[in-house]
Amino acid sequence: MTVESVRPKDTTATAEPPVAGGAVPLLGHGWRLVRDPLAFLSQLRDHGDVVRLKLGPKTVYAVTTPALTGAVALSPDYIIAGPLWESLESLLGKEGVATANGTLHRRQRRTIQPAFRLDAIPAYGPVMAEEARALVERWRAAAGVLDITYESFRVAVRVAARCLMRGSYMDARADRICADLTTLFAGMYQRMVVPLGPLYKVPLPSNREFNRALADLHVLVDEIVADRRAGGQKPNDLLTALLEAKDDNGDPIGEQEIHDQVIAILTPGAETVGSTVMSLLLVLTEHPELGDKIRDEVESVVGDRPVAFDDVRKLTYTANVVTETLRLYPAVWILTRRAVADTELGGYRIPKGADLIYSPYAIQRDRRSYERNEDFDPDRWLPERSKDVPKYAMSPFSVGNRKCPSDHFSMAELTLITAVVAHAYRFEHAPDSDPRPRIGITLRPRRLMLRALPR
Ligand code: HEM
Repeated sequence: MTVESVRPKDTTATAEPPVAGGAVPLLGHGWRLVRDPLAFLSQLRDHGDVVRLKLGPKTVYAVTTPALTGAVALSPDYIIAGPLWESLESLLGKEGVATANGTLHRRQRRTIQPAFRLDAIPAYGPVMAEEARALVERWRAAAGVLDITYESFRVAVRVAARCLMRGSYMDARADRICADLTTLFAGMYQRMVVPLGPLYKVPLPSNREFNRALADLHVLVDEIVADRRAGGQKPNDLLTALLEAKDDNGDPIGEQEIHDQVIAILTPGAETVGSTVMSLLLVLTEHPELGDKIRDEVESVVGDRPVAFDDVRKLTYTANVVTETLRLYPAVWILTRRAVADTELGGYRIPKGADLIYSPYAIQRDRRSYERNEDFDPDRWLPERSKDVPKYAMSPFSVGNRKCPSDHFSMAELTLITAVVAHAYRFEHAPDSDPRPRIGITLRPRRLMLRALPR
């Protein structure tokens, strides 16, 4: 059955969604989700618009059509909770914007939103441009094989930290943040797919390394907050907004909340942008003709001077390459929610407490929404063609009250970086590069080792 439109809510719906095929005794669908999650999630729509999955003893509801994922994201009946968020709480805390719900979440969004508003982005332009150009210089000096995982996460952390928490102290700390986050994200994904709580308390080297990175990140954030307070300055940035924020009674927010907020903003910012920069560099390596076209666009828009932030809105082809990369390689490839009431979705009953999952990866590659769905085609984002894309079939930043606050910030940053590096270099794989997808909390190429060849 295919339901393309969202029907009015019918809380009397009694039909149970079909169970997806391929479950095995005991593990249910868990083994397929662990073995090849992208392929598994991508074929679920053939089983129904909403399907039940058995993950061990648990039932999870998978939502498979663009319209219904939009309905979930926009409905107050579903909140942030479920396995993904439980695994993230050890890092993000319970009082940060990414994990809070209800009135706390609304207040926190109000605090952080001004730093991400469209009219706030140009102020970050010089830092974004400087960091993009610094990459080109670093790679010229390196003149060998580049470890793109490190390079991509490094630039993502530096841009987020320098723009949102202005101050020279970030230069020294960006590398430490980067190293800690790499360890933490790998460990958290493992904790999500293999949720064997006590096992992670055993003092194995991997657990010790995870705990060390977690402790170091918390120390770093405390240092950043303490430095800012000691300096007595109040630049117009996100950190000042957090330090000055008031709770619903008009009192300053607590230290724990400030701490959790800094982590809850820096962490998703670094991981998602880092993963997307990797995917973009893979795309430029595997489709050199795209890089040539970007170079031509940069030359016609910018001429001989360096690319600047003000050029971004005219670099439409480059932006379409970024958008198409986000379609085929969405860093946030899976999302989870929990129903807080007995409710209905696509004509099916969803019981209170049910966990839901859906996959932007599966939705954005669905042949029912996109012609030549697996092809990399930036021109599908030309206005005359993009109007045919079904609603919610392209939501890499999500929609609704949990929509990424940083969509404009990220698009500007990614377009600028892509323009600057593609103008300067072509790329080729070095022998030990492994571009297969690495599926963790985010989706990215596994290990990208590239040579940057000056144009
Ligand atoms: C390519 C870049 C990015 C992508 C694809 C992305 C994607 C997303 C998505 C899909 C969500 C919604 C999660 C959900 O619905 O459960 C989200 C939330 C969030 N993102 Fe991003 N993001 C990106 C960059 C950033 C950056 C640069 C920052 C900060 C510097 C950031 C901060 C956040 C925060 C704080 C939330 C939680 C919002 C809330 O729950 O109210 N993101 N992001």
